[in-house]
Amino acid sequence: MLKVQNLSKKFAQHGATVSALSDVSFELPAGASLGVTGESGAGKSTLLNLLGGLEKPSAGQITFNDRDLLRMTDQEEAKFRQQDLGFIFQFHQLLEDFSVLENVMMPLLIGGTPRQQAEETAQIWLDKVGIAHTAKRFPKEVSGGEQQRAAIARGLIHRPCLVLADEPTGNLDEGNADHVFELLCDLNHDLGATLVMVTHHADFAKRLTHHMVLRDGQIKNWQTNLK
Ligand SMILES: Nc1ncnc2c1ncn2[C@@H]1O[C@H](COP(=O)(O)OP(=O)(O)O)[C@@H](O)[C@H]1O
Ligand SMILES: [Mg+2]
Repeated sequence: MLKVQNLSKKFAQHGATVSALSDVSFELPAGASLGVTGESGAGKSTLLNLLGGLEKPSAGQITFNDRDLLRMTDQEEAKFRQQDLGFIFQFHQLLEDFSVLENVMMPLLIGGTPRQQAEETAQIWLDKVGIAHTAKRFPKEVSGGEQQRAAIARGLIHRPCLVLADEPTGNLDEGNADHVFELLCDLNHDLGATLVMVTHHADFAKRLTHHMVLRDGQIKNWQTNLK
């Protein structure tokens, strides 16, 4: 269960204070998938960054499976990121100087998996996301859709239990976006992970188990999609 209570984040901007997120509370059962929509500037990325520990909130609490994510030691936090968290960004952020295969195996290497085993697992994941043929190429030698698939493989390879995705289909054409969305949902389902996905496709969000609409940093609408 992911539990967020009275979460707020203020930023200083040109001498003024901007409330990117104010008093956001919600509960998401384990294994559920939450689609977050809202206009640009609504606070979607801020919410995701707070959940992933990339930013610290101004106020509020986040617990995941009864662990207080905001009161972990540096060591606990590092371990949580390495083992439990998968992050998939809009601009896939693959490392340019490494091959697609090396990018995908990176989380395993960082987690201490021996190189050969990491390589074999990465091959399996490239196959799962349908880009086995790109293993030896560099990110700029493959298409945008293939890069995004690689980013998904990299975000899930260590079998995280909380997956955060910020507009993972944001810069793909419609057909590709649909495929990548389905792929991410299927893989996430196989892992049994909890998924929080920011998307500007409202119909994607409606296909997840929960849908949150943010406006001006607040929850405008919260819906449970019964299937
Ligand atoms: N690092 C930052 N410094 C200052 N202001 C920020 C920062 N990040 C986000 N903001 C502001 O917070 C608000 C919400 O931004 P964001 O969460 O990126 O929105 P979204 O992802 O929904 O487009 C915006 O007004 C944005 O300008
Ligand atoms: Mg954003």
